[in-house]
Amino acid sequence: MTQDVGPALCVVVPCYNETPNVAPMVAALDAALAGIDWEVVFVDDDSPDGTADTVRAIARTDRRVRCLRRIGRRGLSSAVIEGALSSSADFLAVIDGDMQHDETRLPVMLDAVRGGADMAVGSRHVGDGDAAGLASPLRERLSAVGIGLAQMLARAPINDPMSGFFLMRRIRFEALAHRLNGQGFKILLDLLLAAPEPLKVVEVPYRFRPRTLGESKLDVLVLVQFAGLLLDKALGGVMPLRFIAFALVGAFGMVVNLAITLAARRFGFDFGTAQAIGTVAAMVANFEMNNRLTYRTMRLRGGGYWRGLVLFMLVCGLGAIANIGIARALYRQDATGIAASAAGAAIGVVWNYAVSATLVWRAR
Ligand code: GDD
Ligand code: MN
Repeated sequence: MTQDVGPALCVVVPCYNETPNVAPMVAALDAALAGIDWEVVFVDDDSPDGTADTVRAIARTDRRVRCLRRIGRRGLSSAVIEGALSSSADFLAVIDGDMQHDETRLPVMLDAVRGGADMAVGSRHVGDGDAAGLASPLRERLSAVGIGLAQMLARAPINDPMSGFFLMRRIRFEALAHRLNGQGFKILLDLLLAAPEPLKVVEVPYRFRPRTLGESKLDVLVLVQFAGLLLDKALGGVMPLRFIAFALVGAFGMVVNLAITLAARRFGFDFGTAQAIGTVAAMVANFEMNNRLTYRTMRLRGGGYWRGLVLFMLVCGLGAIANIGIARALYRQDATGIAASAAGAAIGVVWNYAVSATLVWRAR
Protein backbone atom coordinates (compact mmCIF):
# COMPACT_ATOMS: atom_id res chain seq x y z
CA MET A 1 0.00 0.00 0.00
CA THR A 2 1.28 3.46 -0.86
CA GLN A 3 0.88 6.44 1.32
CA ASP A 4 1.05 10.16 0.43
CA VAL A 5 4.15 11.58 2.01
CA GLY A 6 4.83 14.52 -0.33
CA PRO A 7 3.74 18.02 0.64
CA ALA A 8 0.15 19.06 -0.06
CA LEU A 9 0.95 22.63 -1.04
CA CYS A 10 3.83 23.92 -3.13
CA VAL A 11 4.52 27.64 -2.91
CA VAL A 12 6.25 28.90 -6.05
CA VAL A 13 8.28 32.06 -5.55
CA PRO A 14 9.77 33.74 -8.61
CA CYS A 15 12.77 35.77 -7.56
CA TYR A 16 15.43 37.91 -9.10
CA ASN A 17 17.88 39.73 -6.85
CA GLU A 18 15.84 39.05 -3.73
CA THR A 19 18.59 37.92 -1.37
CA PRO A 20 17.46 40.04 1.60
CA ASN A 21 13.90 38.77 1.23
CA VAL A 22 14.56 35.02 1.18
CA ALA A 23 14.88 34.34 4.91
CA PRO A 24 11.94 36.63 5.82
CA MET A 25 9.86 34.82 3.19
CA VAL A 26 10.59 31.36 4.58
CA ALA A 27 9.87 32.58 8.11
CA ALA A 28 6.62 34.20 6.98
CA LEU A 29 5.48 31.01 5.22
CA ASP A 30 6.42 28.96 8.26
CA ALA A 31 4.21 31.14 10.43
CA ALA A 32 1.33 31.45 7.96
CA LEU A 33 1.16 27.77 6.96
CA ALA A 34 1.23 26.13 10.38
CA GLY A 35 -0.72 22.88 10.19
CA ILE A 36 -0.37 22.61 6.40
CA ASP A 37 2.16 20.29 4.79
CA TRP A 38 3.99 22.66 2.43
CA GLU A 39 7.14 23.18 0.41
CA VAL A 40 8.53 26.29 -1.25
CA VAL A 41 10.39 26.50 -4.57
CA PHE A 42 12.34 29.66 -5.19
CA VAL A 43 12.82 30.02 -8.94
CA ASP A 44 15.85 32.21 -9.47
CA ASP A 45 17.18 33.39 -12.83
CA ASP A 46 20.82 33.31 -11.87
CA SER A 47 20.57 36.59 -9.94
CA PRO A 48 23.89 38.42 -9.67
CA ASP A 49 23.22 39.07 -5.97
CA GLY A 50 23.44 35.33 -5.23
CA THR A 51 19.79 34.72 -4.40
CA ALA A 52 20.24 31.04 -5.29
CA ASP A 53 23.05 30.59 -2.76
CA THR A 54 20.94 32.24 -0.10
CA VAL A 55 18.07 29.85 -0.80
CA ARG A 56 20.37 26.81 -0.82
CA ALA A 57 21.91 27.77 2.50
CA ILE A 58 18.45 27.70 4.04
CA ALA A 59 17.49 24.55 2.12
CA ARG A 60 20.38 22.68 3.76
CA THR A 61 18.72 23.03 7.11
CA ASP A 62 15.06 23.01 6.03
CA ARG A 63 13.90 20.29 3.65
CA ARG A 64 10.71 22.19 2.80
CA VAL A 65 12.84 24.71 0.89
CA ARG A 66 14.04 24.16 -2.68
CA CYS A 67 15.90 26.22 -5.23
CA LEU A 68 15.43 26.08 -8.99
CA ARG A 69 18.19 28.06 -10.63
CA ARG A 70 17.80 28.89 -14.31
CA ILE A 71 20.73 30.01 -16.40
CA GLY A 72 20.48 32.26 -19.44
CA ARG A 73 16.77 32.84 -18.87
CA ARG A 74 14.69 35.70 -17.57
CA GLY A 75 11.03 36.17 -16.91
CA LEU A 76 8.56 36.03 -14.07
CA SER A 77 5.91 34.00 -15.93
CA SER A 78 8.24 31.34 -17.28
CA ALA A 79 9.89 31.08 -13.85
CA VAL A 80 6.51 30.39 -12.28
CA ILE A 81 5.64 27.82 -14.91
CA GLU A 82 8.87 25.90 -14.40
CA GLY A 83 8.63 26.05 -10.62
CA ALA A 84 5.05 24.81 -10.73
CA LEU A 85 5.95 21.94 -13.04
CA SER A 86 8.76 20.89 -10.73
CA SER A 87 6.38 19.90 -7.96
CA SER A 88 4.16 16.93 -7.19
CA ALA A 89 2.01 18.64 -4.57
CA ASP A 90 -1.76 18.68 -5.03
CA PHE A 91 -1.98 22.45 -4.68
CA LEU A 92 0.16 25.24 -6.06
CA ALA A 93 0.42 28.78 -4.78
CA VAL A 94 2.29 31.58 -6.52
CA ILE A 95 3.55 34.52 -4.52
CA ASP A 96 6.10 37.29 -5.12
CA GLY A 97 9.42 36.91 -3.34
CA ASP A 98 9.58 40.51 -2.13
CA MET A 99 7.03 40.32 0.70
CA GLN A 100 4.53 42.57 -1.15
CA HIS A 101 1.87 39.86 -1.18
CA ASP A 102 0.22 38.84 2.07
CA GLU A 103 1.15 35.22 2.77
CA THR A 104 -1.24 35.08 5.74
CA ARG A 105 -4.09 34.81 3.18
CA LEU A 106 -2.80 31.50 1.84
CA PRO A 107 -4.81 29.23 4.17
CA VAL A 108 -8.01 31.07 3.19
CA MET A 109 -7.08 30.66 -0.46
CA LEU A 110 -6.39 26.96 0.05
CA ASP A 111 -9.77 26.49 1.71
CA ALA A 112 -11.48 28.24 -1.21
CA VAL A 113 -9.91 25.85 -3.72
CA ARG A 114 -10.54 22.83 -1.51
CA GLY A 115 -14.13 24.06 -1.33
CA GLY A 116 -14.53 23.87 -5.11
CA ALA A 117 -13.09 27.03 -6.67
CA ASP A 118 -10.81 26.49 -9.67
CA MET A 119 -8.60 29.26 -8.47
CA ALA A 120 -8.23 31.58 -5.49
CA VAL A 121 -6.76 34.96 -6.34
CA GLY A 122 -5.31 37.43 -3.89
CA SER A 123 -7.03 40.62 -4.95
CA ARG A 124 -6.23 44.24 -4.27
CA HIS A 125 -9.58 45.36 -5.61
CA VAL A 126 -12.24 43.60 -3.58
CA GLY A 127 -13.42 44.14 -0.03
CA ASP A 128 -10.57 45.25 2.18
CA GLY A 129 -8.02 44.77 -0.62
CA ASP A 130 -5.74 47.68 -1.26
CA ALA A 131 -3.11 48.60 -3.84
CA ALA A 132 -1.28 50.99 -1.51
CA GLY A 133 2.07 49.45 -2.49
CA LEU A 134 1.92 50.63 -6.12
CA ALA A 135 4.92 52.83 -6.59
CA SER A 136 3.72 55.93 -8.48
CA PRO A 137 0.69 57.69 -9.97
CA LEU A 138 1.90 56.68 -13.46
CA ARG A 139 2.04 53.08 -12.34
CA GLU A 140 -1.45 53.36 -10.94
CA ARG A 141 -2.76 54.76 -14.22
CA LEU A 142 -1.00 52.13 -16.32
CA SER A 143 -2.28 49.49 -13.96
CA ALA A 144 -5.84 50.78 -14.39
CA VAL A 145 -5.56 50.72 -18.19
CA GLY A 146 -4.10 47.21 -18.12
CA ILE A 147 -6.78 45.96 -15.75
CA GLY A 148 -9.57 47.24 -17.99
CA LEU A 149 -8.05 45.60 -21.01
CA ALA A 150 -7.39 42.34 -19.22
CA GLN A 151 -10.93 42.21 -17.87
CA MET A 152 -12.30 42.52 -21.39
CA LEU A 153 -10.22 39.60 -22.60
CA ALA A 154 -10.45 37.27 -19.61
CA ARG A 155 -13.71 35.40 -19.72
CA ALA A 156 -13.88 34.89 -15.98
CA PRO A 157 -15.14 37.99 -14.15
CA ILE A 158 -12.24 39.14 -12.00
CA ASN A 159 -11.45 42.38 -10.23
CA ASP A 160 -7.69 41.99 -10.10
CA PRO A 161 -6.63 40.16 -13.27
CA MET A 162 -3.11 41.59 -12.92
CA SER A 163 -2.50 39.89 -9.60
CA GLY A 164 0.52 37.65 -9.31
CA PHE A 165 -0.78 36.02 -6.12
CA PHE A 166 -2.99 32.95 -6.52
CA LEU A 167 -3.57 29.32 -5.63
CA MET A 168 -4.91 26.41 -7.69
CA ARG A 169 -4.75 22.64 -8.08
CA ARG A 170 -1.60 21.42 -9.77
CA ILE A 171 -3.48 19.16 -12.20
CA ARG A 172 -5.43 22.16 -13.45
CA PHE A 173 -2.23 24.12 -13.94
CA GLU A 174 -0.70 21.21 -15.83
CA ALA A 175 -3.76 20.93 -18.04
CA LEU A 176 -3.25 24.56 -19.14
CA ALA A 177 0.54 24.48 -19.30
CA HIS A 178 0.78 23.76 -23.02
CA ARG A 179 -1.44 26.70 -23.86
CA LEU A 180 0.45 29.32 -21.89
CA ASN A 181 2.21 32.20 -23.60
CA GLY A 182 4.81 32.33 -20.82
CA GLN A 183 6.14 35.76 -21.76
CA GLY A 184 6.47 38.59 -19.32
CA PHE A 185 4.87 39.25 -15.96
CA LYS A 186 1.26 38.20 -16.08
CA ILE A 187 1.10 34.52 -15.35
CA LEU A 188 -2.36 34.71 -13.76
CA LEU A 189 -3.81 36.46 -16.79
CA ASP A 190 -2.00 34.01 -19.02
CA LEU A 191 -3.73 31.13 -17.19
CA LEU A 192 -7.15 32.80 -17.36
CA LEU A 193 -6.74 33.38 -21.08
CA ALA A 194 -5.53 29.83 -21.67
CA ALA A 195 -8.51 28.17 -20.01
CA PRO A 196 -10.91 26.72 -22.59
CA GLU A 197 -13.80 27.38 -20.24
CA PRO A 198 -14.00 30.28 -17.79
CA LEU A 199 -12.41 29.33 -14.48
CA LYS A 200 -14.37 29.63 -11.28
CA VAL A 201 -12.36 32.27 -9.45
CA VAL A 202 -12.71 33.26 -5.81
CA GLU A 203 -11.01 36.51 -4.92
CA VAL A 204 -9.49 36.90 -1.47
CA PRO A 205 -8.79 40.52 -0.52
CA TYR A 206 -5.38 41.48 0.73
CA ARG A 207 -3.28 44.57 1.24
CA PHE A 208 -0.48 44.97 -1.30
CA ARG A 209 2.45 45.95 0.92
CA PRO A 210 5.09 48.44 -0.10
CA ARG A 211 8.42 46.86 -0.99
CA THR A 212 10.94 47.43 1.80
CA LEU A 213 13.97 45.48 0.54
CA GLY A 214 15.39 45.13 -2.97
CA GLU A 215 14.07 46.72 -6.16
CA SER A 216 11.12 46.23 -8.51
CA LYS A 217 11.92 44.60 -11.87
CA LEU A 218 9.04 46.11 -13.80
CA ASP A 219 10.44 47.84 -16.86
CA VAL A 220 9.58 48.78 -20.41
CA LEU A 221 10.26 45.30 -21.74
CA VAL A 222 7.69 43.96 -19.33
CA LEU A 223 5.11 46.40 -20.74
CA VAL A 224 5.92 45.38 -24.29
CA GLN A 225 5.57 41.72 -23.31
CA PHE A 226 2.23 42.50 -21.72
CA ALA A 227 1.04 44.08 -24.96
CA GLY A 228 2.32 40.98 -26.76
CA LEU A 229 0.34 38.67 -24.50
CA LEU A 230 -2.88 40.57 -25.20
CA LEU A 231 -2.06 40.81 -28.88
CA ASP A 232 -1.43 37.10 -29.07
CA LYS A 233 -4.84 36.55 -27.53
CA ALA A 234 -6.61 39.11 -29.71
CA LEU A 235 -5.15 37.51 -32.84
CA GLY A 236 -6.30 34.13 -31.58
CA GLY A 237 -3.80 32.27 -33.77
CA VAL A 238 -4.86 34.08 -36.96
CA MET A 239 -2.13 35.64 -39.13
CA PRO A 240 -1.26 39.11 -37.87
CA LEU A 241 -2.23 40.56 -41.26
CA ARG A 242 -5.11 42.33 -39.70
CA PHE A 243 -2.81 44.01 -37.24
CA ILE A 244 -0.55 45.20 -40.04
CA ALA A 245 -3.55 46.66 -41.86
CA PHE A 246 -4.66 48.31 -38.64
CA ALA A 247 -1.22 49.82 -38.07
CA LEU A 248 -1.04 51.14 -41.65
CA VAL A 249 -4.46 52.73 -41.30
CA GLY A 250 -3.21 54.26 -38.04
CA ALA A 251 -0.16 55.70 -39.77
CA PHE A 252 -2.39 57.21 -42.45
CA GLY A 253 -4.53 58.63 -39.66
CA MET A 254 -1.51 60.50 -38.32
CA VAL A 255 -1.13 62.17 -41.72
CA VAL A 256 -4.83 63.09 -41.74
CA ASN A 257 -4.45 64.47 -38.23
CA LEU A 258 -1.52 66.68 -39.23
CA ALA A 259 -3.12 67.92 -42.45
CA ILE A 260 -6.45 68.82 -40.82
CA THR A 261 -4.74 70.47 -37.86
CA LEU A 262 -2.67 72.66 -40.19
CA ALA A 263 -5.73 73.49 -42.29
CA ALA A 264 -7.68 74.46 -39.18
CA ARG A 265 -4.82 76.73 -38.11
CA ARG A 266 -5.07 78.46 -41.51
CA PHE A 267 -8.75 79.08 -40.83
CA GLY A 268 -7.71 80.92 -37.70
CA PHE A 269 -8.39 78.35 -34.93
CA ASP A 270 -5.99 78.40 -31.98
CA PHE A 271 -3.59 75.50 -31.66
CA GLY A 272 -5.54 73.49 -29.07
CA THR A 273 -8.81 73.70 -31.00
CA ALA A 274 -7.09 72.93 -34.30
CA GLN A 275 -5.47 69.88 -32.76
CA ALA A 276 -8.77 68.67 -31.34
CA ILE A 277 -10.42 69.03 -34.75
CA GLY A 278 -7.53 67.17 -36.39
CA THR A 279 -7.67 64.37 -33.84
CA VAL A 280 -11.40 63.82 -34.17
CA ALA A 281 -11.17 63.91 -37.98
CA ALA A 282 -8.34 61.34 -37.89
CA MET A 283 -10.33 59.04 -35.61
CA VAL A 284 -13.37 59.18 -37.90
CA ALA A 285 -11.17 58.58 -40.97
CA ASN A 286 -9.44 55.65 -39.24
CA PHE A 287 -12.70 54.12 -38.19
CA GLU A 288 -14.09 54.42 -41.70
CA MET A 289 -10.99 52.86 -43.26
CA ASN A 290 -10.75 50.05 -40.71
CA ASN A 291 -14.41 49.31 -41.21
CA ARG A 292 -13.97 49.15 -45.00
CA LEU A 293 -10.54 47.53 -45.20
CA THR A 294 -9.21 45.92 -42.04
CA TYR A 295 -12.57 44.55 -40.93
CA ARG A 296 -14.37 44.35 -44.25
CA THR A 297 -15.48 40.80 -43.44
CA MET A 298 -17.39 42.07 -40.43
CA ARG A 299 -18.25 45.52 -41.63
CA LEU A 300 -20.52 47.49 -39.32
CA ARG A 301 -23.64 49.10 -40.81
CA GLY A 302 -26.68 51.04 -39.65
CA GLY A 303 -26.96 51.46 -35.88
CA GLY A 304 -23.94 49.21 -35.32
CA TYR A 305 -21.84 51.64 -37.36
CA TRP A 306 -22.55 54.55 -35.01
CA ARG A 307 -22.17 52.47 -31.90
CA GLY A 308 -18.87 51.18 -33.25
CA LEU A 309 -17.68 54.69 -34.08
CA VAL A 310 -18.35 55.95 -30.55
CA LEU A 311 -16.65 52.90 -29.00
CA PHE A 312 -13.69 53.25 -31.33
CA MET A 313 -13.21 56.88 -30.36
CA LEU A 314 -13.33 55.99 -26.67
CA VAL A 315 -10.80 53.19 -27.15
CA CYS A 316 -8.43 55.39 -29.14
CA GLY A 317 -8.79 58.15 -26.57
CA LEU A 318 -7.70 55.78 -23.82
CA GLY A 319 -4.93 54.50 -26.09
CA ALA A 320 -3.70 58.07 -26.47
CA ILE A 321 -3.55 58.45 -22.68
CA ALA A 322 -1.48 55.26 -22.36
CA ASN A 323 0.68 56.40 -25.25
CA ILE A 324 1.44 59.75 -23.61
CA GLY A 325 2.07 58.12 -20.22
CA ILE A 326 4.54 55.63 -21.63
CA ALA A 327 6.32 58.21 -23.77
CA ARG A 328 6.68 60.44 -20.71
CA ALA A 329 8.06 57.62 -18.58
CA LEU A 330 10.61 56.72 -21.25
CA TYR A 331 11.49 60.31 -21.98
CA ARG A 332 13.22 60.52 -18.62
CA GLN A 333 15.73 57.89 -19.74
CA ASP A 334 16.30 59.11 -23.27
CA ALA A 335 16.78 62.80 -23.85
CA THR A 336 16.04 62.82 -27.62
CA GLY A 337 12.50 61.61 -27.06
CA ILE A 338 12.45 59.76 -30.38
CA ALA A 339 12.55 56.29 -28.87
CA ALA A 340 10.09 57.46 -26.23
CA SER A 341 7.47 58.63 -28.67
CA ALA A 342 8.04 55.62 -30.92
CA ALA A 343 7.49 53.22 -28.03
CA GLY A 344 4.48 55.25 -26.91
CA ALA A 345 2.99 55.16 -30.39
CA ALA A 346 3.71 51.45 -30.77
CA ILE A 347 1.99 50.61 -27.53
CA GLY A 348 -0.89 52.92 -28.47
CA VAL A 349 -1.38 51.00 -31.72
CA VAL A 350 -1.26 47.65 -29.97
CA TRP A 351 -3.81 48.84 -27.45
CA ASN A 352 -6.14 50.29 -30.08
CA TYR A 353 -5.90 47.13 -32.08
CA ALA A 354 -6.33 44.69 -29.21
CA VAL A 355 -9.38 46.47 -27.87
CA SER A 356 -10.96 47.29 -31.23
CA ALA A 357 -10.57 43.69 -32.30
CA THR A 358 -12.44 42.45 -29.25
CA LEU A 359 -14.93 45.24 -28.66
CA VAL A 360 -15.63 47.22 -31.80
CA TRP A 361 -15.39 44.60 -34.54
CA ARG A 362 -16.21 41.56 -32.54
CA ALA A 363 -16.35 38.31 -34.48
CA ARG A 364 -19.84 36.94 -33.94
N1 GDD B 1 12.81 34.33 -11.65
C1 GDD B 1 12.48 35.58 -11.93
N2 GDD B 1 12.84 36.09 -13.14
N3 GDD B 1 11.79 36.32 -11.06
C2 GDD B 1 11.47 37.58 -11.37
C3 GDD B 1 11.82 38.16 -12.59
C4 GDD B 1 12.55 37.36 -13.52
O1 GDD B 1 12.90 37.77 -14.61
N4 GDD B 1 11.35 39.44 -12.62
C5 GDD B 1 10.75 39.63 -11.45
N5 GDD B 1 10.82 38.53 -10.68
C6 GDD B 1 10.30 38.34 -9.33
C7 GDD B 1 10.74 39.40 -8.35
O2 GDD B 1 11.97 39.08 -7.75
C8 GDD B 1 9.59 39.39 -7.36
O3 GDD B 1 9.74 38.37 -6.41
C9 GDD B 1 8.41 39.09 -8.23
O4 GDD B 1 8.90 38.45 -9.39
C10 GDD B 1 7.64 40.36 -8.62
O5 GDD B 1 8.53 41.26 -9.21
P1 GDD B 1 8.53 42.82 -8.83
O6 GDD B 1 9.57 43.46 -9.66
O7 GDD B 1 8.58 42.99 -7.36
O8 GDD B 1 7.12 43.15 -9.39
P2 GDD B 1 6.11 44.31 -9.00
O9 GDD B 1 6.01 44.49 -7.54
O10 GDD B 1 6.36 45.46 -9.85
O11 GDD B 1 4.80 43.59 -9.58
C11 GDD B 1 3.93 42.89 -8.78
O12 GDD B 1 2.68 43.52 -8.88
C12 GDD B 1 2.00 43.28 -10.05
C13 GDD B 1 0.70 44.00 -9.98
O13 GDD B 1 0.91 45.36 -9.96
C14 GDD B 1 3.87 41.41 -9.14
O14 GDD B 1 3.13 40.77 -8.14
C15 GDD B 1 3.14 41.11 -10.34
O15 GDD B 1 2.96 39.70 -10.45
C16 GDD B 1 1.83 41.80 -10.24
O16 GDD B 1 1.16 41.55 -11.41
MN1 MN C 1 7.18 43.69 -6.06
